[in-house]
Amino acid sequence: MGTDRVKKVCIIGASGKLGRYMVGQALERGYEVVGVCRERSVQKLAAFEGRMTVVPGPTNDPEVIRRAVAGCDGVLTVLVPWGVRQYASGTAQAVLDHAPPGARLVFSCGWHITRDGEDRYSRMFTMGVRIAAVLGRLVRAVEIDDQVEACRRVFASDTRWTVVRGSSLEEGQSQGLPVWSRHVGDPVLASNLTRRVDFALFMVAALTDDTLVQQAPAIVGCRTPSALAHAGGLHKHA
Ligand SMILES: NC(=O)c1ccc[n+]([C@@H]2O[C@H](COP(=O)([O-])OP(=O)(O)OC[C@H]3O[C@@H](n4cnc5c(N)ncnc54)[C@H](OP(=O)(O)O)[C@@H]3O)[C@@H](O)[C@H]2O)c1
Repeated sequence: MGTDRVKKVCIIGASGKLGRYMVGQALERGYEVVGVCRERSVQKLAAFEGRMTVVPGPTNDPEVIRRAVAGCDGVLTVLVPWGVRQYASGTAQAVLDHAPPGARLVFSCGWHITRDGEDRYSRMFTMGVRIAAVLGRLVRAVEIDDQVEACRRVFASDTRWTVVRGSSLEEGQSQGLPVWSRHVGDPVLASNLTRRVDFALFMVAALTDDTLVQQAPAIVGCRTPSALAHAGGLHKHA
């Protein structure tokens, strides 16, 4: 476990499902929380009114991000492939450019992102991602290549980053901290399912886990069959 020097965190994409779980958990940990979300989504954070600061605006606006991350020891960023205007890469770039030096930067994405090309995907998974990419581009709603570019920039940076790669997600009560492995295809990950609330738990816990600095853990729920069968001695948070 890293030193508990985190006091103030910024959550970028705070109004989404993952974002709201992270806001709740960061507040529970006693952190001061600043959230960034689109102006039209501010009301989705009403449950936290008075307990957090909201900076409304597009998450790829460098000026919005510069204001929001000022004085933060940690930044949790939800990277989503929505829209066709380099939203994810613009968001990642703004965070990389403006987060205070030495801050812990934790980004979310999916298993389809590979850091070193050593991930092994099932045919079905690869086909699913390809179809989503093509259809998404056609309807101009999803830009998976840009999420790939966002992560490429993070991987290339010398900041204290972690890119958390989520499996398929489901709702439901927390089962505890997911387990992780370096590569998709590792047997422990085979179940390919994580509760969204636990994805958030992993993101927030990563803020104080220095073993995850400059790592791209692929996660899976700790109660899934593959985790139960293979997790002995595998990566749990230190
Ligand atoms: N969904 C999955 O099955 C899955 C699987 C693996 C990994 N992941 C990863 O998990 C993370 C969270 O994903 P999620 O699916 O659970 O979504 P989510 O937490 O509900 O977040 C969606 C985010 O996208 C924003 N958004 C939606 N439409 C947008 C648009 N047109 N332009 C700009 N922003 C827009 C939302 O902002 P508003 O609140 O303003 O709408 C919100 O911040 C992502 O990093 C994703 O890659 C998801």
